[in-house]
Amino acid sequence: MAFMSHISLIVMMLGLFSLPNHTGAEVVADETCQYDCGLTVDLQKEEMAMLDTSLLQTSFSLGSASHALPVGQVVVDLASGNPPASELPMEMMREAADARLGPDENVDLLQYNGDSTETLPTAIGTLFNVDPSEIVITNGGVTKTVELFCLEAIASARGEGVILVEEASFWFMGGLSSVCSGGNVKTVPVQLTSGGYLDVDDLERVLQNLNASAPPLMLYTIPEFQNPMGGNLPTGDRHKLLDLADEFSFTVVADSVYRYLNYSEPVPASLVDLNKDRAKPARVFEVYSFAKIISGPGLALGWVRAHPALALEFRSSPVSVFTTFIQGILARAINDGLIATQLAKVKEDMRHRGEVFQTALADNGFQAGPLRGGYFYWLCTNTDAETLLAQATLSGVTFLPASGSLIDSGNTRLKKCFRASMSNGDDASQRLGAERLAQVLGTENITLAQGVYPSDVNLDLHEDHVRVAQLQVGSTMRHKGNSC
Ligand SMILES: Cc1ncc(COP(=O)(O)O)c(C=O)c1O
Repeated sequence: MAFMSHISLIVMMLGLFSLPNHTGAEVVADETCQYDCGLTVDLQKEEMAMLDTSLLQTSFSLGSASHALPVGQVVVDLASGNPPASELPMEMMREAADARLGPDENVDLLQYNGDSTETLPTAIGTLFNVDPSEIVITNGGVTKTVELFCLEAIASARGEGVILVEEASFWFMGGLSSVCSGGNVKTVPVQLTSGGYLDVDDLERVLQNLNASAPPLMLYTIPEFQNPMGGNLPTGDRHKLLDLADEFSFTVVADSVYRYLNYSEPVPASLVDLNKDRAKPARVFEVYSFAKIISGPGLALGWVRAHPALALEFRSSPVSVFTTFIQGILARAINDGLIATQLAKVKEDMRHRGEVFQTALADNGFQAGPLRGGYFYWLCTNTDAETLLAQATLSGVTFLPASGSLIDSGNTRLKKCFRASMSNGDDASQRLGAERLAQVLGTENITLAQGVYPSDVNLDLHEDHVRVAQLQVGSTMRHKGNSC
């Protein structure tokens, strides 16, 4: 079989294995993958022989011979963060479109200003119990809207300015920061706590130390089920964040893409709700989309939620939104109860995926808690996560090491940690991924902890480990736009 003459390695976004040019190996981007994707590298046996053998031999020598990836073995992808293929709601969209495109329906759906009788803000307001005057539909999903905020921040800068970002963040921010650091504006990282959420005390320190000539313009934060660390900003810290935004006059852009994907616990009050109780509201915008809550990133649609006065300001910004057609279909899907059903299904599926992974890890001697929300487990070890990934890849499982999420590539605080995504494959592959991971951890005597910095463990790298890590330096690769 032709397939058997290949060795397929999934190479991380950050180009963990930088293939020597002389292999001529074909690197194929998976075009269906939007974010946090891997690249598939197909190597013929002859090409394999031409690989930099020091890399492979070093990698093999890190574990036992059984760590070598058998020819034709499928790699379990715990790295990428796309919605599960099984959850993409084609049937639901067909049903909503059929209902809304019927012969007696309002044709304004195809006009510039859309259908005023069944609007998406009203439908979203009803679904999530939010005042529709706080909702503005955006051109695109969360990522496009964050870019817009960045561009507005840059345009508002008089001279120099700073955009603050959590030290480990949605990897796209790495690429986005090139949008966000245009002109005289630069991106400055803020630390996360060991609980995996914004460290508001560090934010205060950073703000106090900023040069007066480069004031803070905007903070991008993921306050619920943070990507990659999974934490929720506690209510007390939310109040402090609003105080700081007010005191230092910057805009908070809260990426709430996972807010409604909570499985085992309620999320803290929303920043916009807390802002309502303030005498003087801070400039806070929550950004949402349909990408994760219904598994529909291809809809490329979202919304901003803010204090009504700020929503009005955002609505009158010079950005026309003419996505009236898809808005009308989604409004119908909400009003007919389809979106609520789909959201419940996505939540149950993701909770279950977490449980399968957690149980398989436990069966193989490693404890992790339940997946609380979002897509990701954040796991820390007593070894370098990039080195671990090299071993894991050869054992047939990949994940995203912290380095793939860092805003500052020189940051070493998180280097023993990695993100494992629960959104790929089926139960069997989730289980297999956990088993392979546990096998690598077990063989190397590596300890695992969930959601903490392993600051109490010394990183005592074996020389070979250091060598692999060095081979990877300089191969960091970030993608932007439609290709992964
Ligand atoms: C934190 C975070 N924000 C935003 C997105 C993407 O949202 P959208 O597709 O609406 O741009 C992702 C997807 O991986 C994410 O993890």
